[in-house]
This record gives sequence, C-alpha cells and structure tokens, in this order.
Amino acid sequence: MRFCINVDHIATLRNARGETQPDPVTFALMAEQFGVDGIVVHLREDRRHINERDVRLLRELVTTKLDLEMAPVDEIIQIACDVCPELATLVPEKRQELTTEGGINVIDNINQIRSAVERLHEAEISVSIFIEPDINQIDAAAEINADFIEIHTGHYANAASEEDIFEELEKVRLAAKHAKKLGLGVNAGHGLNYINIKEFLAIEEIDEVSIGHAVLARAIYVGAEQAIKEMIALTKR
Ligand code: PXP
Repeated sequence: MRFCINVDHIATLRNARGETQPDPVTFALMAEQFGVDGIVVHLREDRRHINERDVRLLRELVTTKLDLEMAPVDEIIQIACDVCPELATLVPEKRQELTTEGGINVIDNINQIRSAVERLHEAEISVSIFIEPDINQIDAAAEINADFIEIHTGHYANAASEEDIFEELEKVRLAAKHAKKLGLGVNAGHGLNYINIKEFLAIEEIDEVSIGHAVLARAIYVGAEQAIKEMIALTKR
C-alpha cells in the first residue's frame, strides 16, 4: 500500500506566527528522502494553511507524486490546471470546519463535480473524489469518469466500540471492493494513525493511504525521520 503524507499542518504551525518556519515544502522534501510515496496538500479557499507559493514550489520540487486536495470551485481548479499536480482530489469545503468533515456528495452536486473532472482531465490531471464508503456515491464517481476515489475513513477512525469499529471497517472494505470492480483506483484517508492503520493492510483493494495529523504529531515527539519511517513500515504489505 502506498503512503502519501499530508503536510498541511506544517503550514498551520508556520502561519501561527506569520513567519517562514517550519516550511511545508522543506518538510515534504525531507519526507520524500525518508521514503514516502507522495505529498498531499489542501489548497483551501481561505488559505488557512497551504498557500499558492507552497503549491507552486512543491510542483517544481516534488519528485514522487503531488496530490492537490481542492474544492471543486473555479479559482482552485484554475490554479490546479496551471500547476498540474499528478492527482487532484476533490473534497468538500466549509469555512467553519476544523478539518474536512466528510466525503463530497457526488450525487447531489453531480453537474458541478462532473465539470470539475472534465476541466482537470483536459489539463491531463488524474482526478480522485473524496467520498463516504457508500455504493451509490461510488457509482456516481465512476459515472462522471473519476480515476480514483478516496474513501473517507473518519467514521472508522472515530468509532469507539468494537462493534462500531467492525461495522465501519466493513463499509470501507465493501466500498473498496466495489470501486475496484468498477475500475477505479482506491485511496483512503482521514483520521488514520499508527494503530488503526493495521486493519487496512488486509484490504487489498486499497492502493494508497493519505495521512497527515498522526504522523506530524508523532514527528514532534520522535523526529520526522522516525515518525515517517514507522508509518512506512506499517503500510507495507
Ligand atoms: N484525506 C483528505 C481528503 C483530507 O482532507 C485529509 C485531512 O486534510 C486527510 C486525508 C488526512 O487526514 P489526517 O490529517 O486526519 O490524517
């Protein structure tokens, strides 16, 4: 399973002081040296962490793969088409949220998302759509020619009882199988950490995980190299 690291919160820390350090671009390049399979950033409309300078520098310097998370809105689509990341992941965005709170509703916003996919494809950018592990949402993503889905794993990560964990994991497993049958690539992310990642290794259909907060938090305690290499070891099948 590939492991891509989301470095948004290096920028959160930088922006807390309005200074230049810590720098998400430097951190991303270090993460590549330590062996991650790709770099993920979310360019939010409110630019609360990652900014355009970060995205443009990352595009120049990242040699693994750049995954740009974005809302399907004109301004950001335009930037993506200009920068050309290897992957654009469409996510819902609300200004008040602390972090992305759930998958995008493809069915209810099908025209907007279809047009975003088409524009990104015209710029030869592969497109992933961040969705709930829901068969109907996956069918809609396939219908509008997404290349990948990213399964929202937040409910699994937040489940507390054994029964709920099992139930949420089962949803992810079925969703991954269904998406693969439709020919979609399968990514997963949100709330994954050093403990709950272990169950994912058994779901062979998951090609890639996108993890940010848990690894960056651990990097503060043990250093970036150890935190990243530990997660790389845990994601190898
Ligand atoms: N995938 C998507 C689409 C996200 O929005 C996020 C959070 O920015 C992540 C993965 C990573 O989540 P976490 O920081 O909880 O690992």
